Amino acid sequence: MPFDRSVKIAPSILSADFANFGQEIQAIEAQGADWVHVDVMDGHFVPNLTFGPALCAAIRPHIKTVMDVHLMIAPVDPYIEAYAKAGADVITAHVEASAHAHRTLQAIRNQGCKAGLALNPATPVSAVEYVLDMVDLICVMTVNPGFGGQSFIHSQIEKVQSLRNMIGDRPIHIEIDGGVTPETAPLVSAAGADVLVAGSAVFKGGSVSAPEVYGRNIAAIRAAAEV
Ligand code: DX5
Ligand code: ZN
Repeated sequence: MPFDRSVKIAPSILSADFANFGQEIQAIEAQGADWVHVDVMDGHFVPNLTFGPALCAAIRPHIKTVMDVHLMIAPVDPYIEAYAKAGADVITAHVEASAHAHRTLQAIRNQGCKAGLALNPATPVSAVEYVLDMVDLICVMTVNPGFGGQSFIHSQIEKVQSLRNMIGDRPIHIEIDGGVTPETAPLVSAAGADVLVAGSAVFKGGSVSAPEVYGRNIAAIRAAAEV
């Protein structure tokens, strides 16, 4: 995974047809997805339940790009190895879900994965200040994690700017997760984000039998972000 700051669109399969992940993933990749974002929820750290490691292992062969696994689970450390073995390229844990974020990042890198840290909307950027040398991606949540289809929280734009300044030349991706649309994408890309997760805005109106809609949705977000 070579590092660059170009805009990358990462559709969240939380908005895909749950009975048809293989074809859904093939469709979004054929239609221009750069990464595939997998939202793992535990019904405890967040009020929803989604994908275990076995599901991730099952979809892995269908992903030709980057498998971006977002762990919304607490505790998180006991599960890192299982998601790495399932084939994750990037594993992102929440700073709020780990008493020892430094150790969590070490554990992710020890598994050979890129290490991400996610910040909930109320968490300040200072939470990552002393782990910048061990993190490959910082995810700024622009909704409260747990569900797709929520409204973008505008206060997070300033947070992305602060984070971008703090990162400087370090090879760290800034990922945005939640409420990304062609309207909100330019706000966060201008502030310094490069990976844009989008669930409902990618999948809306499309299906595996109408995949060109996914293509139009992805292209609209990308075009808005690149302005
Ligand atoms: C929220 C998830 C997001 C979500 C984004 O907890 O982490 O990835 O699926 O969905 P949209 O793009 O619909 O806000
Ligand atoms: Zn996510």
